[in-house]
Formats: sequence, structure tokens, C-alpha cells
Amino acid sequence: MISQSSAWKTLKNHYHDVEDLHLRDLFSQNPNRFSQFSTESCGIFLDYSKNLITEKTKELLSSLAKETRLKEHISKMFGGDKINWTENRSVLHTALRAPITSKVFVDGVNVVAQIHQELSRMLQFSEEIRSGTRRGFTGKKFESVINIGIGGSDLGPSMVCEALKFYADGPTVYFVSNVDGTHIANTLAKVDLQTTLFLVASKTFTTQETMTNAFTARDALINALGESAVSLHFAAMSTNLKAVAEFGMNPDNAFGFWDFVGGRYSLWSVIGLPIALQIGKQGFMELLAGAHEMDEHFCKASDWENLPVILAMISTWYSSFYHMPSHAILPYDQYLHRFAAHFQQVDMESNGKSVNRDGQIVDYQTGQILWGEPGTNGQHAFYQLIHQGTHKISCDFIGFFESLNPIGEHHKILMSHFFAQTEALAFGLNLEQVIFELKKSDLSEEEIRKLAPHKVFYGNRVSNTILMQKLTPHSLGALIALYEHKIFVQGVLWEINSFDQWGVELGKKLAKSILSDFEGKPGIHDSSTSGLIELFIKKHTKGS
Ligand code: F6P
Repeated sequence: MISQSSAWKTLKNHYHDVEDLHLRDLFSQNPNRFSQFSTESCGIFLDYSKNLITEKTKELLSSLAKETRLKEHISKMFGGDKINWTENRSVLHTALRAPITSKVFVDGVNVVAQIHQELSRMLQFSEEIRSGTRRGFTGKKFESVINIGIGGSDLGPSMVCEALKFYADGPTVYFVSNVDGTHIANTLAKVDLQTTLFLVASKTFTTQETMTNAFTARDALINALGESAVSLHFAAMSTNLKAVAEFGMNPDNAFGFWDFVGGRYSLWSVIGLPIALQIGKQGFMELLAGAHEMDEHFCKASDWENLPVILAMISTWYSSFYHMPSHAILPYDQYLHRFAAHFQQVDMESNGKSVNRDGQIVDYQTGQILWGEPGTNGQHAFYQLIHQGTHKISCDFIGFFESLNPIGEHHKILMSHFFAQTEALAFGLNLEQVIFELKKSDLSEEEIRKLAPHKVFYGNRVSNTILMQKLTPHSLGALIALYEHKIFVQGVLWEINSFDQWGVELGKKLAKSILSDFEGKPGIHDSSTSGLIELFIKKHTKGS
């Protein structure tokens, strides 16, 4: 196990040497800290100086990367090796954004050629819908698109559609994911079925939530326009084209991908169709190009020049050695309001594992608890706990030099908060400073003594600052790929499989058996679950 390696043990000892460090001291001891602990690539500037790391920490984290053979794992992923060993699959979301001239072989087949063939079909379909060449059953141009999918077939494309709304010039795109009937009912109420295209997005095409919503949408369409409308108003994106055909989908409207694309990494594939419909072919290709630029950087740059590697090593340092497992992603851009939600799935479904490559239960902390909201909303919600609470939370602040909506002073005000927060978190305000300030008021000595401790900020709260020029399809592509690769590197350092998701299976299986309970075939459960099911049956029947 990696925790038995000398690299890991040395880091553990090093933690005891540095655990009492304060960022105030690190900065006062080294006036060049900002320039020495920052780097730029692919249009992304990263300042990682406000972290509890020294040159020694960097050296030891690099030794851990070497010990875990990070470079070799990166080559294996990009080269199509079956690194998802519990499912015997390659992991090739990177091939989805590789130029047509690249070659990546899986079982002797160049998958890049296949990928570009399907991408062209998908983009042609999308352009025909956007231009009105393909129309609905009553001859009207499509004005609305409803994407039906969940998890990776929802979060990635919906996050990107929100992020790139500024560039939207196609039909309005809606997303339905929850099996709660309210989601589909509310969405159907917003559209005219004559001008609505439904996309059923599901890697497996068996996901219960998605199929339930898809059949409800199909029924609604048939009720409104008749059975013949289905082939014109439905399209599907899946690896399971057999099940797509069984649904009654027009084969021209069925777009495929492959099991070497993980659901949560699939927005670059035909699962990105809603994005292409919203911003067009050129924008979609720019998104892919931005991600590809990051892929190239990731493969070539040395450890402390390598943006994904830096973020991963620092995060691993905190979660596995510093006992700081909670990480907030805080984009100071309203368009990125679903960014943290997307990466909550990508990160937590990828690295929420506790068994290593040798089948052993690990004796160290793995996956981080990831969450976040856009600034400045978060500041008025949960930042209190980050500044003064007992938990220590690492943060990524993401901002842009230029706003897409440069109205009055908005952007300067927004960014003044952005910089102020990282400064306050790192350096805080000590008791002497607080008392000095309070003495300027008309409070008595006694009142100052009582109030002062509540106004102290200990500081030493760590953060990365990520800055880009402007939010564009290209810069977003690079930013998403940065986080994807960060997650991959962490999985390598922890020796876990970041590409399976067995932890979601048990709940699905039990839900199926509980559905049978509802239909009068009681299963065996513990007393709590049985009691709750009985209560539901009684009250549900009564209420319906
Ligand atoms: O939640 C589990 C999961 O398997 C995710 O990994 C996946 O993104 C999601 O379900 C949806 O799966 P599918 O695309 O096959 O419908």
C-alpha cells in the first residue's frame, strides 16, 4: 500500500514539522512567494501561494508522484490502456477532443477516426435543427430542446449550457433529470410540443429515472401530435444503440459513443448534443479545442508547472495528511453557477473509493468532499464557517479579468470581493488589530474585552486563485479538463480506480425490490425500513 512507501511516510513526518505554520509567516519570510508559487498555462493563471506548503513540501509531493509512477499512468490513460480495471475498460474522454489526425488504438481499432465520424453526424444533425432544415411534425422549426438524462448525462451538458448561455443562439435548452414527476411536468408546461425536440441521453439506456421521464415525454407527445411525431421529435445519445432502437427511435437520430467514455466524462461526446444545439458547431469545436490544449499541457509539463498536477498534489496533501477533506469550488462568475455541482459528481463519484489497486482497504483518506456556490452569494451564506468555524476548508477561487456583461462597476466590485476573500482567509485579523480598531469606537474597555474575541479572524485558511481572461467555449474547455485531470492524478496518488462507480449500485437494486413491496409483494427488510414502507403504502393509498 502506498502509505507504506518511504515517500508517503516522509510526507507524514513532514506534516508534523509544518503543521503549526501560518501563512502570515510564510509570506513575511519570503517576499517572492507569489512569483515562486504561481504559474500560467493554457490561458489559466494559477496562484497557489496561499497554501500551507513549503519548497520541501513540493519536493516531497513530487517524490510521491514519482513513487506512484504518475507519468506512466498518464501515458497509459492517453494511450488507451484498460486502466479502469474493475470494468476492464480504457478511459478515453481525452480522445473525444483529440484532433482527427491523432491515433489512439483500443483493441486494434483507431478510436479517433470513429469518434470524429460520430461527432460529424451529431454536429450535422444539430446544425440542421438550428437552421430549420429539420423540422417538427407540423412543419414548424424547433424552438425548444428538452434533454432527458441524469448524472453524467445531465450535469456536464447542463453546466456547460449554463456557462455558455452568453453565446446561445439556438433553441432554448431545458434539462430534466429527477424522476420526481414535478421536474418533467414543470418543464413540459414551459414548451410547445410542436416545436420541441426531446433528447434521451443515457450511456446505458437502462437508467430507470431517465427511461421513466423519456416514456412520460413520449406519451405527452403522442397525446398531442400522435405516434408518427415520435421519429421527428426524439433523438438519443447512448452506447446502447440496440435499446435505443427498441424505444422506437429513428436510427438517423441516434448517436453513439463507447464504453471507454465514463458517464461523468462524457460531455465531450455526443452527450454534448444539447451544447451544440445551443451554441452551434463552431462553439462546440472550440470547447473541445480548449480541453485538448489542457490535455497536451497535462502530458508534457513538469510537476510544478503542470496545472492539474499542482491542484491534485496540494489537495492530496490536505485530505490525506492535513486532515482537511472538505474542498469548496467558488467561481466568481454567475454563468458558472453549476460548475461545482458538476464537479461534485465527477470528483466524488470518481474518488469516493476505499479499496486500492491490490484490493486492500486503504488506511488513508481518499476523495474530498466537494461543494460550492458562485461568489458573492456564497459569501452571504457559508463563508462565515470558512472564516471562523472549527473546520478547515480548502478553496478554489475562480475569476475572470473581463466580464461578459460589463455593466457599470459590477465587475470591479465582484473582483474586489474575490481578492478580499482570499486575503482575509489567509491573513485574518489578530486580537491586537481587533482591539486597536474597537478602541476607535465609543465602547468601554469592558465591552471591548467581551466583544474582541468574536471579531478575531485566525487566518491560515488556504486557497488557490485561478484567473482567466474571459469565459469562452475555449477557456471553459480548458478549465473543465484541468479539473478532470486533477481528479485523475489524485486517483493515481491514492492508488484507487477513479473510473468505476460501484457505490451507486446497491441503492438502485434495493429501490427495485421496494417497488415490488409497493405492488403487494413484501420483501425482507429491517424493522425501520419495513415500518417506513408500510407507512408510505398506507398514507400514499389514502392520499391518492
Ligand atoms: O449515478 C450513477 C450513474 O451510473 C452515473 O455514473 C451516470 O453518469 C448516471 O448514472 C447516468 O447513467 P446513464 O448515462 O447510463 O443513464
